[in-house]
Amino acid sequence: MQSLLTLLLLCVAACSAYPVDRAAEDGDSSMDLVQQYLENYYNFAKDVKQFVRSRDSGPVVKKIREMQKFLGLEVTGKPDPDTLAMIRKPRCGVPDVGQFSTFPGMPKWRKTHLTYRIVNYTLDLPREAVDSAIEKALEVWAEVTPLTFSKIFEGEADIMIFFAVRDHGDFNPFDGPGNILGHAYAPGLGINGDAHFDDDEQWTRDTSGTNLFLVAAHELGHSLGLYHSADPRALMFPVYNALTDLTRFRLSQDDVNGIQSLYGPPPSSPDGPAVPTESVPPGPETPAMCDPTLSFDAISSLRGEILFFKDRHLWRKSLRTPEPGFYLISSFWPSLPSGLDAAYEETSKDIVLIFKGNQFWAIKGTEVRAGYPKDIHTLGFPRSVRKIDAAVFDKEKKKTYFFVGDRYWRFDEKRQSMEPDFPKKIAEDFPGVNSTVDAAFEAFGFYYFFSGSSQLEFDPNAKKVTHVLKSNSWLNC
Ligand SMILES: *[C@@H]1O[C@H](CO)[C@@H](O)[C@H](O)[C@H]1NC(C)=O
Ligand SMILES: *[C@@H]1O[C@H](CO)[C@@H](O)[C@H](O)[C@H]1NC(C)=O
Ligand SMILES: [Zn+2]
Ligand SMILES: [Zn+2]
Repeated sequence: MQSLLTLLLLCVAACSAYPVDRAAEDGDSSMDLVQQYLENYYNFAKDVKQFVRSRDSGPVVKKIREMQKFLGLEVTGKPDPDTLAMIRKPRCGVPDVGQFSTFPGMPKWRKTHLTYRIVNYTLDLPREAVDSAIEKALEVWAEVTPLTFSKIFEGEADIMIFFAVRDHGDFNPFDGPGNILGHAYAPGLGINGDAHFDDDEQWTRDTSGTNLFLVAAHELGHSLGLYHSADPRALMFPVYNALTDLTRFRLSQDDVNGIQSLYGPPPSSPDGPAVPTESVPPGPETPAMCDPTLSFDAISSLRGEILFFKDRHLWRKSLRTPEPGFYLISSFWPSLPSGLDAAYEETSKDIVLIFKGNQFWAIKGTEVRAGYPKDIHTLGFPRSVRKIDAAVFDKEKKKTYFFVGDRYWRFDEKRQSMEPDFPKKIAEDFPGVNSTVDAAFEAFGFYYFFSGSSQLEFDPNAKKVTHVLKSNSWLNC
């Protein structure tokens, strides 16, 4: 899985550079700076911006307030001087919203022994100094969890660490000196778990430049599954805070609570089993969302978010924000019906296909494409198929699985044709998936199958169910 982009979701919003010292007295440019910051770190989505703007500036003010609250500033809703000063400080490139620990499955490692590899080095420091900073940074987390780390020198480690400047192959370019210091990806395969450091910083052992140990300890917190904390004393606070006396470095209680909510305390710890002490922020007042019997009609990703369709509504979950949004389907796509059957995102074409009965639609962002609905039989289903239960797209093979009753079909998206030798029995090729599938989607390399109020996490490589979850676990329930 080559992605935060697969994880494009969790990913780090595009961390584009902006001029540092030209700035703020000029209202327009400071507004641009704020806008950029909100887009980069507060999930102020580019694609909904105009939609939002055309009504009023309320959402912008709301976002500024959210940012000010998170960063411990006075909440004015305006880009005042303190706010502008804060947004020019060096910081981590990962956004400030969301909490990995609230997601099922992936965002934590499922093993306690992890490998890491320092792929290359900055020239700012002797190699031993880099080795030692990384080792100490991992030790910070190992001390309060059952996790252990070992270093490898070749091949693929769980946590690959490197220094790079500007574009470095992950769609999250660094930005030259200052501002973004590094970023890291949540636990998982491929790029997930990896930590990157901006080699345009002057890395130092002390705090005369950018202290590598402090930034590494923070980034490796992400590699282990922690997101940003709004507690300014926390290591996981997004803004770099150079301690004057490094010997006094300690994790804050907030960091300890966070990491122990994922992995528990170290085995010898007298504290007993970990209790997640940081509660997840409550979702919006949508009566049905946390109903234990909630089931879904269809689920799909859309540009890094996950859409959960139910009757006339959908929940829209960004992995970067803790709270799902709740909407009418018609508020985005007035021509779509309610009570959908299936949906999937063909990520390479940036299109979501939506199914109901014998018809399907293609949507691109908020636009329903011309020429739809089309008949599902044009995809190659036999006449006996009247509707699709669920669909999921395999990004790597570019194939779509369609689930109908106890059978499934596979569609080749490149050739735009149904593959021969289908249908096959779901239970044979997806062992453990026994009941009819209501909805399915892919995330972090797993398939999530929904049936009534339960959800199966299926590992397509190991060909087995790895977790059984409540259907609404993605909605912080
Ligand atoms: C380190 O490796 C990364 C990834 O291969 C590359 O983008 C970067 O330029 C390398 N940095 C140095 C300092 O060699
Ligand atoms: C699914 O089917 C397998 C094999 O038939 C069976 O062993 C298993 O108990 C079933 N699981 C459920 C949840 O029904
Ligand atoms: Zn960070
Ligand atoms: Zn990177």
